Amino acid sequence: MNYPYGASIEDAYKKLQYDIYHVKNRSVSLYIATLIKRRSCLLHNLRNNNRYEILVTGGAGFIGSHIVDAYVKRGHNVVVIDNLSTGNRKNLNPKARFYQLILKIARCLFRFQKEKPQVVNHQAALASLRLATKEPEVLVDSNIAGTMNVLLASGRTKIKRFLFASSCSVLGHPKKLPATEATPIEPLSPYAYTKYANER
Ligand SMILES: NC(=O)c1ccc[n+]([C@@H]2O[C@H](COP(=O)([O-])OP(=O)(O)OC[C@H]3O[C@@H](n4cnc5c(N)ncnc54)[C@H](O)[C@@H]3O)[C@@H](O)[C@H]2O)c1
Repeated sequence: MNYPYGASIEDAYKKLQYDIYHVKNRSVSLYIATLIKRRSCLLHNLRNNNRYEILVTGGAGFIGSHIVDAYVKRGHNVVVIDNLSTGNRKNLNPKARFYQLILKIARCLFRFQKEKPQVVNHQAALASLRLATKEPEVLVDSNIAGTMNVLLASGRTKIKRFLFASSCSVLGHPKKLPATEATPIEPLSPYAYTKYANER
């Protein structure tokens, strides 16, 4: 009979014991490495107090201002960019730094490079039906060009995370609810088209 570990059954048994010892040792060293990694992550988080520099576009708007409040409550440093076209100064969180800016590339880049955000939460957009029909170029400029500018500035500043508010309007009137990732895209309004363009 051939034993995989040696000429005799005793050799095979010794080799097996050797393997078990080393496999055990290897898993112990892996475990220690994991612990060291976890400890350094924990120290990093404690040192930085798990705080991030977060830039919120549209932070004076309905949803954006609630997002800003939640970030501030968790101790993050928040910067708001908003042109106050539909937003309101009253919505602004006093602990957030505010810049009344339209989303043009030079202005965005300048502000991003000054503030150096780690996270960008892009909420700024126009959803007005009147604008969509009477001045569609304003809608396109704000929602498509504006988003492109925020993306370009984010890329140049090497941010860690980008969050974007799309809209269920990109799905039109779904035949089946609840909608899923597989639900067909069917934007029915100019606003929905601008959101879909951003998703692409
Ligand atoms: N409210 C909803 O039911 C709903 C549903 C789906 C998606 N969304 C999306 O969520 C986001 C926030 O929506 P909201 O309801 O809070 O809208 P909102 O109008 O209250 O907020 C949008 C903010 O963006 C600012 N803004 C718009 N264009 C800008 C530009 N070019 N430069 C700088 N600032 C600009 C406005 O002044 C405003 O403060 C939007 O992107 C919207 O498309 C909203």
